[in-house]
Amino acid sequence: MRYLTIALTKGRLAFKTMELLEQIGISCEEMKDKNTRKLIFTNEELGIRFFLAKANDVPTYVEYGAADIGISGKDVILEEGRKLYEVIDLGTGRCKMCVCGPESARERLKHHELIRVATKYPNIAKDYFYNKKHQTVEIIKLNGSIELAPLVGLSEVIVDIVETGSTLRENGLTVLEEICDLSARVIVNQVSMKRENERINKMIRDLKQLLARQADTV
Ligand code: PRP
Repeated sequence: MRYLTIALTKGRLAFKTMELLEQIGISCEEMKDKNTRKLIFTNEELGIRFFLAKANDVPTYVEYGAADIGISGKDVILEEGRKLYEVIDLGTGRCKMCVCGPESARERLKHHELIRVATKYPNIAKDYFYNKKHQTVEIIKLNGSIELAPLVGLSEVIVDIVETGSTLRENGLTVLEEICDLSARVIVNQVSMKRENERINKMIRDLKQLLARQADTV
């Protein structure tokens, strides 16, 4: 039997995903060793192979078919814009993509002034400002600690993830506009969806049932 390959996002999301998969009978003993530096793990019995990739690369592996399935944040899926199927919202890691800044930037944003927007997500920012709001802005790509940008005068606002809101609060910033909801999603390669239809659909069905059961008990 051909291995079904699942791409996981290195770190917390991989652990959370494995917790869910275990509940539908898909486990991987090899992966539980926290000190391992291995990148690929197999469950021979189930014919399933897992690998750990950097968050932004998961949709790439899935689009090209190097992974049949991937678990990825909606932020990364939107930013990468890859050709793939998004099949399940796992509901983990819920947060929002927002335009944030100091309260003083609200008016400038509203009056469509030419402002600078710092972000780790230039494609999401472009789509929001150009296509949805029809507003011209200058987008500056950063790689992290985005909240710094308005504090030191690099940009007027930022487009970033807000989860608890504490990073914003502690730095005197606020949500100015909400762009979209985010959470972890299951993505599937378009060819695999046909070729491995039976195995993939069973996994989707089992996961959906598990999520429905969990929602009922809350
Ligand atoms: C993310 C995000 C915000 C923060 C939001 O950053 O970019 O900075 O978390 O969370 P909060 O609303 O709960 O404070 P992350 O910690 O992933 O690191 P980064 O700044 O390097 O992107």
